[in-house]
Amino acid sequence: MPAAAILFSEEQIQSRVADLGRAIARDYAGRSPVLVTMLKGAVVFLADLFRAIDLPVRVDFMSISSYGSDSEASGGVVRILKDLDQDIGGEDVIVVEDIIDTGLTISYLLATLRARQPASLEVCALLDKTVRRILPVEIKYRGFECPDRFVVGYGLDHEERYRNLPLIVAVDDQTALTDDPDLLAPLLAARNAEKVEKTGERTPS
Ligand code: IMP
Repeated sequence: MPAAAILFSEEQIQSRVADLGRAIARDYAGRSPVLVTMLKGAVVFLADLFRAIDLPVRVDFMSISSYGSDSEASGGVVRILKDLDQDIGGEDVIVVEDIIDTGLTISYLLATLRARQPASLEVCALLDKTVRRILPVEIKYRGFECPDRFVVGYGLDHEERYRNLPLIVAVDDQTALTDDPDLLAPLLAARNAEKVEKTGERTPS
């Protein structure tokens, strides 16, 4: 079985991110929203997104970790490892996330941020795995519906690797990737979907 397949190409991602940037610029015209970004996965998305928003946006970062082995085990209760630098009271806040899976982490986070009384609070997520949802989440700005597959690239990692892949890849054989963490290295070398397809390395095995 091939270990992985391309889910979203660099061009698809860039085009969708530009759409999201335009939608945010339109909705927040005349305002200066704060893009609250979750480290580390969402930073790649943020870097492209905020350059696509034609407004004086501000950015701030938070780092959180689950108490259990994952968000499901911990019921979404997270520990804040790095809090925001600025007070978001009275501000228009948009939480920038790479992927929303069960929705437990973002729900906990939204409750935490809401308690700080921002003027408004919305979510912008690149990927939405709706099929895995445990808690409902209102995602105002959504990049793509994501199938129930483990994905890496464009900020998303497997054991800290592949965040710098400019496209998003679905990993069907996670065991193979755990056994050989460099399994998808040919994709990194190829840099984009066209080159990968041309060289026949679309599905490294
Ligand atoms: P949730 O609390 O289940 O919604 O967890 C969301 C977090 O799980 C994301 O911010 C990611 O860090 C991680 N995650 C969920 N699915 C994937 C995936 O397919 N690849 C990489 N990380 C994922």
